[in-house]
Amino acid sequence: MNRPAYFITGTDTGVGKTAISCAIISLLVARGFKVAAMKPVAAGGRLVDGVLHNEDVDSLIQEANVLLPQELVCPFLLKEPASPNLAAAIEARSVDVTHIATCFQQIRAQAEAVVVEGVGGFYVPLADHASVADLALALGLPVILVVGLRLGCINHALLTSAAIRAKGLKLAGWVANHIDPSMIFSDGNIATLEKWLDAPRLGTVPYLQSLECAGDYLNLDLLHEISLKRK
Ligand SMILES: Nc1ncnc2c1ncn2[C@@H]1O[C@H](COP(=O)(O)OP(=O)(O)OP(=O)(O)O)[C@@H](O)[C@H]1O
Ligand SMILES: [Mg+2]
Repeated sequence: MNRPAYFITGTDTGVGKTAISCAIISLLVARGFKVAAMKPVAAGGRLVDGVLHNEDVDSLIQEANVLLPQELVCPFLLKEPASPNLAAAIEARSVDVTHIATCFQQIRAQAEAVVVEGVGGFYVPLADHASVADLALALGLPVILVVGLRLGCINHALLTSAAIRAKGLKLAGWVANHIDPSMIFSDGNIATLEKWLDAPRLGTVPYLQSLECAGDYLNLDLLHEISLKRK
């Protein structure tokens, strides 16, 4: 059986990684997969009944249909909303990519599909000598790039694509995500990225009032790894 797993990165922080990760999870669930989510490093937490929570982690856990403890979904849930290397240092912790890889293997053993949301952009430092790119490499996953459509996104998308390939990883696809309703020339930006990014565009998600239907704008059949299994 094919067991798809993807690493979701973005052109920046706040570009829709969580929104698109949740949409992909819900589409995989609808196809009959047992789907687990992971957000290995999250920076920015609030205490609820004495337990540290992060919005992304909560959203991903809610969307997935394989129930897992929060410590496995997010082994490094950091309190401060800062670059993870800094947020971890404040707590005298250090993000350990090897530990994350161990958690990922445990999750993978319990699920048919896994969606892993990165943190920030692809070169964000996690620790002194480890970045998000190193994490994606340690997990060995094909990458889906969420492009937040705004001025500058072409450069950010192309740099990220080059960084993904420089790690020897596969850019499995990309998503054009309308995060700015006032953006002009978005069609031209998308057309340019179509030409320059050597990977399928999985969809263009409009600026939505409710992100629940974001999956309606994605075509997972373009990810050949999962095209065989349907409900
Ligand atoms: N297509 C869209 N239409 C409208 N709002 C959107 C869309 N995509 C994302 N957003 C909004 O943009 C904001 C950032 O989205 P999201 O949290 O998914 O980004 P992210 O890349 O996961 O951010 P982070 O780096 O914090 O993890 C959220 O408020 C989200 O609701
Ligand atoms: Mg997020």
